Amino acid sequence: MTLPLPMRATGNLLKLAGNITLDAQHLKKSYGRGKQRFDAVRDVSLRISAGEVLAFLGPNGAGKTTTIKMIGGLVRPDAGQVRIDGLDPHQQSMALKRVGAVLEGNRNLYWRLTPLENIEYFGGLRQVPRQVARQRGEQLLEQFGLSDKRKTPVQKLSRGMQQKLAIAVALVHQPTLLLLDEPTLGLDVEASETVKTLVRDIAAAGCGILLTTHQLDVAEELSDRVAIIRQGQIIAEQPTHELIRQFSGSAYHIDCGQPIDIERAKKIMVLGGTVSDNQVHFPGDALYELLDIVRPLPIREIRQDRADLTDVFLSLMRDVESEQS
Ligand SMILES: Nc1ncnc2c1ncn2[C@@H]1O[C@H](COP(=O)(O)OP(=O)(O)O)[C@@H](O)[C@H]1O
Ligand SMILES: [Mg+2]
Repeated sequence: MTLPLPMRATGNLLKLAGNITLDAQHLKKSYGRGKQRFDAVRDVSLRISAGEVLAFLGPNGAGKTTTIKMIGGLVRPDAGQVRIDGLDPHQQSMALKRVGAVLEGNRNLYWRLTPLENIEYFGGLRQVPRQVARQRGEQLLEQFGLSDKRKTPVQKLSRGMQQKLAIAVALVHQPTLLLLDEPTLGLDVEASETVKTLVRDIAAAGCGILLTTHQLDVAEELSDRVAIIRQGQIIAEQPTHELIRQFSGSAYHIDCGQPIDIERAKKIMVLGGTVSDNQVHFPGDALYELLDIVRPLPIREIRQDRADLTDVFLSLMRDVESEQS
């Protein structure tokens, strides 16, 4: 599908070109005063290129929403700087035309207005002329599968439709950076899938996306890179596949499709592997030696132990906790 986004090139080309859409450096924010003072964000730097999806992960209270609000120009940082396409959202109002945000919860829409009215209204706040907003709105609603609901008050829509609409509203001024705070929270499986597809399409159209989610499978599927925040500080930041590979073991599982004879099993055990029925588990990397033993038995599957983002996340949290105790 094509989105009414600024189409300078395809997402992948932009990614190669390395256009930096978001550059946030050393952000800091404390709430309260005196003894009540609390450092919500201590030191957060994030970069996102055009067309890139960054998953911004961390436990509750880690500072994700505060960071997103600082990037979106909604909360002023105590220190640090934000640049969106080189513009500062806290100094240059033009920067606010480059960023769209869907914040946590349901406060992104007017419930008594229809989808089209919401798009026109929020477009107006970002200086999009009414006619233009309406035209883009019709197009977005069509692309988001909401055309037949365009005149239904938002409060009558399903939670999934409301969330899709919130994303459409955030795109009406054609931002180059989209901030999505928990976009699939509380959605059923089908609605989550639809939102995930939309996120992919929006990134493919060249928009940089900052995504927070507690659903690590969603983060794993959608993100090019992951940044993990804990107690207001980034503790890991890497391309998603590299982070996962780093935490993946080097063990192999081989399914031979038929029981492995005693002779072979003994040799495999000498190499350090274990055998049960037609399965071999081999916690080493001398895979070819192992395959020489197995030859000429049929091989149904060879698979390497692979961590997922949940393993990575839990492991990192444990490491930080044990360092602190
Ligand atoms: N307006 C506020 N006033 C005081 N404390 C706040 C405010 N907003 C957030 N906090 C606190 O800052 C910390 C970080 O919150 P938040 O950014 O919402 O984290 P996350 O989105 O990662 O769950 C939390 O301890 C939260 O209670
Ligand atoms: Mg939050």
